[in-house]
Amino acid sequence: MRLRDCHNFHDFRRLARRRLPRPIFDYIDGAADDEVTHRRNTASFERCDLVPNVLRGVEHIDMSVTVLGQKLAMPIYCSPTALQRLFHHTGERAVAAAAAKYGTMFGVSSLGTVSLEELRKAHDTPQVYQFYYHRDRGLNRAMMQRAKEAGVQVMMLTVDSITGGNRERDKRTGFSIPFRLTLAGMYQFGIKPAWGINYLTHERFKLPQLDQHVDMGSGALSISKYFTEMLDPSMNWDDVAEMVRLWNGQFCLKGVMSVADARRAVEIGCTGIVLSNHGGRQLDGSRAPFDQLAEIVDAVGDRIDVIMDGGIQRGTHVLKALSLGAKAVGVGRYYLYPLAAAGQAGVERALDLMRSELERGMKLMGCTAINQLSRENLRFR
Ligand SMILES: Cc1cc2nc3c(=O)[nH]c(=O)nc-3n(C[C@H](O)[C@H](O)[C@H](O)COP(=O)(O)O)c2cc1C
Repeated sequence: MRLRDCHNFHDFRRLARRRLPRPIFDYIDGAADDEVTHRRNTASFERCDLVPNVLRGVEHIDMSVTVLGQKLAMPIYCSPTALQRLFHHTGERAVAAAAAKYGTMFGVSSLGTVSLEELRKAHDTPQVYQFYYHRDRGLNRAMMQRAKEAGVQVMMLTVDSITGGNRERDKRTGFSIPFRLTLAGMYQFGIKPAWGINYLTHERFKLPQLDQHVDMGSGALSISKYFTEMLDPSMNWDDVAEMVRLWNGQFCLKGVMSVADARRAVEIGCTGIVLSNHGGRQLDGSRAPFDQLAEIVDAVGDRIDVIMDGGIQRGTHVLKALSLGAKAVGVGRYYLYPLAAAGQAGVERALDLMRSELERGMKLMGCTAINQLSRENLRFR
């Protein structure tokens, strides 16, 4: 199977599975506990049908949106994800270049493997910096300052990861940073030598957003210890309000799910919220963002940009979310499998397929601009 044989999310996933050692594939593919929420994220789109309009003159389509003060050529963006150079040696560089080519925004994770400064210099496309809140307030301020100086447009604070999700696939394989592979995990690396050769012959793996704080080489501080020892589980609304004031720009909370929290985000001056359950990787059993979207849009949609992520595999999923009132939609695995499968060419192909699906979908829905989509276009079963 080659890249040109990939026509959708499932094809990319299959190719990624073939290329990656199983522990790495499972890190991307897996989710928390029984992975119920992960499955439901996509299934929730299937409970809702599109109701198209016809004869509307749809020769020219404009799928651009403005969200968090950024103009995007298409209504999806690449949500921040960790450790991308483990999936393909080009990692964030490939994702940023592909996002720039398709005129959309990309996120850089705190656990990213290329520095936010390098990525900022390489492309003009809007960049999100995904932030975790540390016990050390000085460190939080310094990191925000660093992102500001680099020219990052959007600060995105992840609020659904106050403690790590229970990812049982990773426990079975021993996936962690640094690697603590089980025998079975080691065997899985052994049978994919191409990945190992590629990994060893490219630039050393590092976490440049955190390099002064997480020592992976000696194993002094693993990522799991980073979460338990350096991040602050006492983080509360007052702390975040102070961050919002300090940042003084586009500030978004990622992982808000309740109406009460959405209202609070407005009160403290956030400019956006992402309804998200972290792709099902944190609280299993939590509601799918798409199911929660209408309630949140009704409560705060006129005062804050409401965005959602989770489970997006198709252009029609995006159109459903936009019809309910989302301003844009984030994708995670949708671009990670293509990254793993074929680097930048893979991500570009995935974004290209998404753009075609959106264009075709909009034409078949009888709309030429995103703001023509409304709840009139949806029926829930
Ligand atoms: C492998 C992987 C790593 C991720 N790393 C992060 C991260 O470092 N920070 C963060 O806020 N979200 C992270 N996420 C969550 C994504 O940003 C996004 O919320 C989620 O993937 C959306 O679900 P989807 O994969 O079904 O599109 C990660 C997701 C995956 C699959």
